[in-house]
Amino acid sequence: MQRLSLGALIMRYLTPLLLAAAALASSLSAAPVEREFLLQTRHTTMAFQQSGKTWLLVHYGARVDQSADAKALAWHSFTGGNTFGYRKPATYSVFGSDNDRANTMNKYGGLAVIHADGVTSTELQAVAARTVDEPAGITHLVLELKDPAYPFFVTQHFRAVEASDVIETWVEIRHDEPAPVKLVRMDSAAFVFPALAREFSVLSLTGQWASEGQVAEAALAQGQTIVLNSRSGVRSAFGNNASFMVSVGPRASETSGEVIAGALAWSGAWEISFYRDQLNALSINAGPDTGNGAYTLDAGHPLVTPKLALTYSAAGKGQVSRNFHRWARDVQLRDGRTLRPVLLNSWEGAYFKFNEQTLTDMMDGVRQLGGEMFVVDDGWFARGKYARDDDKRGLGDWVLNEAKLPKGLAYLANEAKARGLQFGIWVEPEMANTTSELVEQHPDWVLREKTRALRQGRGGTQVVLDLTNPAVRDNLFQQMDAMITSIPGLAYIKWDANADFMNVGSTYLAADRQPNVWFDYTVGLYDLLGRLHAKYPKINLQACSSGGGRMDYGFLRYADEFWTSDDTDARQRIFLQWGAGHFYPACAMAAHVTAVPNHQTHRTTPLKYRFDVAMSGRLGFELHPKNMTPEEIAFAQKAVVDYKRIRPVVQLGDLYRLVSPWENSYASLMYVSEDQKRAVVFVYGLNRLIQSDYPAPLPLQGLAADKHYRVTEINRENNDAKSEHSRVNGKQVSGAALLAMGLPVKLGAEYDSAVFELVAE
Ligand code: GLA
Repeated sequence: MQRLSLGALIMRYLTPLLLAAAALASSLSAAPVEREFLLQTRHTTMAFQQSGKTWLLVHYGARVDQSADAKALAWHSFTGGNTFGYRKPATYSVFGSDNDRANTMNKYGGLAVIHADGVTSTELQAVAARTVDEPAGITHLVLELKDPAYPFFVTQHFRAVEASDVIETWVEIRHDEPAPVKLVRMDSAAFVFPALAREFSVLSLTGQWASEGQVAEAALAQGQTIVLNSRSGVRSAFGNNASFMVSVGPRASETSGEVIAGALAWSGAWEISFYRDQLNALSINAGPDTGNGAYTLDAGHPLVTPKLALTYSAAGKGQVSRNFHRWARDVQLRDGRTLRPVLLNSWEGAYFKFNEQTLTDMMDGVRQLGGEMFVVDDGWFARGKYARDDDKRGLGDWVLNEAKLPKGLAYLANEAKARGLQFGIWVEPEMANTTSELVEQHPDWVLREKTRALRQGRGGTQVVLDLTNPAVRDNLFQQMDAMITSIPGLAYIKWDANADFMNVGSTYLAADRQPNVWFDYTVGLYDLLGRLHAKYPKINLQACSSGGGRMDYGFLRYADEFWTSDDTDARQRIFLQWGAGHFYPACAMAAHVTAVPNHQTHRTTPLKYRFDVAMSGRLGFELHPKNMTPEEIAFAQKAVVDYKRIRPVVQLGDLYRLVSPWENSYASLMYVSEDQKRAVVFVYGLNRLIQSDYPAPLPLQGLAADKHYRVTEINRENNDAKSEHSRVNGKQVSGAALLAMGLPVKLGAEYDSAVFELVAE
């Protein structure tokens, strides 16, 4: 990467700077910061500098320890002579701010405002800067910015989480103008990164129903913009996922190269764009999307944008993933430090066709397999003509389907408890069917446009409820509350959401506020989740949205995990989980063993293969155990015992992606415990052709060179020596040798797979 230093030009800014600082000093709060500020994490630095009245981001990358060095080397001007088009790296780039000496108005701002008087430009000047108190290991910098011509304010936050090398950033926007302002854009972050490189490439996840987590990567050429977005409104992670990795310089590998990465914690519509300008500077804007209009913001009502979690590594994509995972476990997930139970979910084993006997039989089954929780999926609720026996009715009526389950939910929860199992339940609170008591009584609680026929989704009758309306949220809170209190010891809720905004209108919002639905829906959702969380902090939530449609860190603030995909085919899951793992940790990635032929792809794979794939995430089942043969049950029982032993390493360890399924006829990944004493290696065959590449020794990573590891193959179908997948099975080998020479493995037929447990002795 090439960085241009400042040279003499910067000096021209310093004199006015010193004067401005003196004026500023009086307005600073309790813990004011200097004109230069280094926000530090373990291996990275984000360096800030005040230049004139603008706060600049002068470095984001590898750690720098002296602010004098950051100041001396800061890049915030182009010295090559041609400064046309040059954009100063303001910490928050705003439409219309002229950035001191830049000779063009900034048209790429992440904040675009139409002020009360109709003026469309905004200028933000530094008012104050301070740090706020946080627990040890977190530094929180706040920059107060104001438009000199308007009572219009932005508070910009940077919260550095030291251990994981993640910096969270977001803004709070407020004003006291005489009338509402319109926010055409209201990004959480809008940076011009002080990184000039000759190459950039952008990695993101794409996909659709049953194929989430597909890795896409493209070069960002000079002058080009790449835009990722979602305008689902609900399924924030279908199409694109709100996360990215940008290689700064040559395309990073798993183990080398500079990467700036981010994940936007938002479950609604969003947009993230990458712009490489003519001078090779990189801009990244990320925030909620305002749909086809502007957000109307009233005076005195601050708007807080979602967090963007940023991380950086000079050691490739693998480290970036580990940073996100660590941050997720330490600070972002509802509870990222507790081991997740092995559960059985009723969906693929029963769909809508069950009665109490079916469910208690499934409980017997999961207990026999060694599982720890039973979850009743869709089909347990709504009454009479709306009883939920298919997907055409009942959503919105969160009362027991008495015809199906006359003994009630408490009975089921107690039956689970009697078997030593925790109990969980499926809901889809954001949605209703027009065929429900709820919509019959409150037709205006549904997102709809006055003049258009109501478009309906799944089952021909599904609609999205208007969560901007507090009455709707209160009703849903009460219904959920009543349901939860009726189930003794409820431990888990699968929170589904199977539609997009099909009708983009709210009867609650005024005519001139209709575009607010894009943002306020998600604010309403978080309000509802927050109230439930406050009352039931221990209930474990799964974010589901037709599968991985809610694989986002906004929802995960309230949840422990997401349903990775409705596609449970082990072979396709290898690709899906590979992609999802770029940003989301294994403890949050629900992976279920299901029956064959697979219900989505109709592929038949061996039970061992299905286990080996699911065991690299949060293992569960979605089948009826009564359909398993005694041999299958015996294999599963042993696998569950093994999983429980390796679970702390998989769920709470560090992920290393070893061999990509996208480029090879087999794939491999491994997890290493934080203390490096234990590791688990997974290898999966994908295609078997005679000319297929034969697995080379797996290039292990993350082990301690000075430790000696006993390698044990687990999940074997039998103990016959011929079925071993490595000639070092049972042997002790040094970490140094495994790192240098790799783990020798062999794979036989298509869908052959192996799992190795490494324990330091
Ligand atoms: C969605 C979910 C599935 C299942 C069904 C129930 O499709 O992704 O896992 O819960 O809804 O209707």
